[in-house]
Amino acid sequence: MANTRLPKSNVDLLSELAPDVERLYNRHLEAPRLWFPHEQINWGDGEDFTDRPWSKEDYPLSDGVRSSIYVNLLTEDNLPYYTHTLLSHAPESHPILDWNHQWTMEENRHSMVMRDWVHISRCIDPTYLEEGRRVQMKKGEVPNPASMAELIAYVSFQERATQIAHRNTGAKLPKDDKIGRNVLALIAGDETKHFLFYRDLTLAAFAIDPSMMMIAVAKQVIGFAMPGTGIPSFTRHAVRIAREGIYGLGQFLNDVLDPVLTLWDVDHLVGLSAEAERARADLRDFIAKMSETVNRMAQKAQGVASAIS
Ligand SMILES: [Fe+2]
Ligand SMILES: [Fe+2]
Repeated sequence: MANTRLPKSNVDLLSELAPDVERLYNRHLEAPRLWFPHEQINWGDGEDFTDRPWSKEDYPLSDGVRSSIYVNLLTEDNLPYYTHTLLSHAPESHPILDWNHQWTMEENRHSMVMRDWVHISRCIDPTYLEEGRRVQMKKGEVPNPASMAELIAYVSFQERATQIAHRNTGAKLPKDDKIGRNVLALIAGDETKHFLFYRDLTLAAFAIDPSMMMIAVAKQVIGFAMPGTGIPSFTRHAVRIAREGIYGLGQFLNDVLDPVLTLWDVDHLVGLSAEAERARADLRDFIAKMSETVNRMAQKAQGVASAIS
């Protein structure tokens, strides 16, 4: 049956979502994650870079894992622009403002603790990292969804993707780097909670206006780009990260899109407008093509592996 409470605009959507924002924000606060960046690091392990300049041998790692740490940290550094985008969609005195402030406060510690670990462990060239940060932040480049409907859909995917990227990077670190593994697990834990907030807010928005959300979700999936597009040599790093099996098209399809779209039940939504039906059909086509590509890539990788063995 068609929804009878169809809002006319994103402003209406946001005002209808206010009780859900409050509910999900309160749920978030009920399980606080009180960890302190300074407690995660063995400061005594640090060495002055002037006395002993950085070298690759300080912390042997594959290029893919090094690229992943670099891209993930720079993405966390770019927080001010993400916050700006979120706040620009939030009207005054709406509860989403409180959420955005809480979210920013939690996200801010990710770059702190990662950089502390990176500098003490010497897993990345600190000069290369700082040059990347300067270039990226001067651009102020972040995805900028056009509406609140698109924004919550985009951030749902992005938080989940970030969680997967941190988790998989941590799993690739040497077993004896307990500090690095713990740091990335703590960050991934925060990203999980952020993802749950946005995922369930988007679910609530689907209940209010399924057509508006279907169109927004299709647009965001089809145009989705991993955060980090302003990072120097981003494509080269993204290819290395994908080859390493940390994050690529396969993870986007199987670990991000599949579980999230299933939970939103996009295949079984009823009462959609003609435009929303077209958007759903476009989304299905897009995912079918992506599945073919992922399968082809997996077969190719298997062929290469069996040729080597
Ligand atoms: Fe983060
Ligand atoms: Fe996050």
